[in-house]
Amino acid sequence: KKVVLAYSGGLDTSVILHWLREQYDCEVVTFTADIGQGEELEPARAKAIAAGVREIFIDDLREEFVRDFVYPMFRANALYEGEYLLGTSIARPLIAKRLVEIAVITGADAIAHGATGKGNDQVRFELSAYALKPDIQVIAPWREWDLLSREKLLAYAEARGIPVEMKRASGQSPYSMDANLLHISYEGNELEDPWQEPAADMWRWTIAPEQAPATPAYLELTFAHGDVVAINGQTMTPAIALAELNRIGGTHGIGRADLVENRSVGMKSRGCYETPGGTILLKAHRAMESLTLDREAAHLKDELMPRYASLIYNGYWFSPERRMLQAAIDQTQQVVNGVVRLKLYRGNVTVVGRQSDSDSLFDTAIATFEEDAGAYNQADATGFIRLNALRLRVAGRKRGG
Ligand code: ARG
Ligand code: SIN
Repeated sequence: KKVVLAYSGGLDTSVILHWLREQYDCEVVTFTADIGQGEELEPARAKAIAAGVREIFIDDLREEFVRDFVYPMFRANALYEGEYLLGTSIARPLIAKRLVEIAVITGADAIAHGATGKGNDQVRFELSAYALKPDIQVIAPWREWDLLSREKLLAYAEARGIPVEMKRASGQSPYSMDANLLHISYEGNELEDPWQEPAADMWRWTIAPEQAPATPAYLELTFAHGDVVAINGQTMTPAIALAELNRIGGTHGIGRADLVENRSVGMKSRGCYETPGGTILLKAHRAMESLTLDREAAHLKDELMPRYASLIYNGYWFSPERRMLQAAIDQTQQVVNGVVRLKLYRGNVTVVGRQSDSDSLFDTAIATFEEDAGAYNQADATGFIRLNALRLRVAGRKRGG
């Protein structure tokens, strides 16, 4: 029996590696991905080698992540429950896809992950995996074992000589975190009290807005078919563009969120998120659409958005309904071309300009407050309003008006 494990080299997945061998008498293949979490991958390789793993997969998935997952999602302006930019949710289908691919390559029967039985991630990994490879077996140790605390995990590791870095004293984070090119998330510790403000030193990617520079930064984003293709006129690949937006946004305190969300399994949970690049991207993309999209197409897109965001949050990336919505969304983006100019200042992103030579629907001749040379006949509005008022007047009369 062979199992492909999503492996970070941290305490949890190191214990899982050994536990799988013990419980399932299996060979374990490890898979570690670079999706922009900002950690070196070589230590994970060294640990896997030291643990006697023979097949070790280490993949740089950064461009695929942004190009095929993050960018398509931002075309929809996706936001879960009005606040969450879905940073973790959108990465899970990619990890699952690669786990399944590696299972096929190595002839493994199962995949395993380190998500707990209480969260969203297990659902996202597994729905994705079953959609892509219906006969795959999934092992979720957290739902099977009784190592339900950090102390128990450490004791298990110690008893079996599993090396774990004891850097708890030296700045090991007390939070449950997840990072990738789109965001970093924090859950647990004092955040489990929804009334408690997070410690100031929790945030890792962004400077506090009140400590951000007193001088704003201006930024120009070029869009092609709804995707950012250049920053300040310089062409960039999706992953490089997002990394650059994170960097600039972080220095201006952009993109912190502190929220309570409804998990797929039914509980409410409190999380804090830093999504500097994504926050800029969402604002800019909406501005680009405001100039180029037809009103009704834009409004319909906005109605579909919460549904699309819920699909991603709940793990349905590889579903017929998500693909169907994506096709509709992508169709609208043909005209979302041009440049948006933004101002970043102490936690705020403000749109200060937008232009599209090829696709702007904005007509100054029509919109002007000055004389418009016959482009718009104000007298037409009289009939427009009279007809729209017809049913209101009928109803008003009934009420005795
Ligand atoms: N609550 C967020 C979500 O469901 C973040 C999850 C973070 N995951 C983690 N393994 N720490 O998308
Ligand atoms: C976990 O429970 O593994 C992390 C949180 C989540 O998946 O929602």
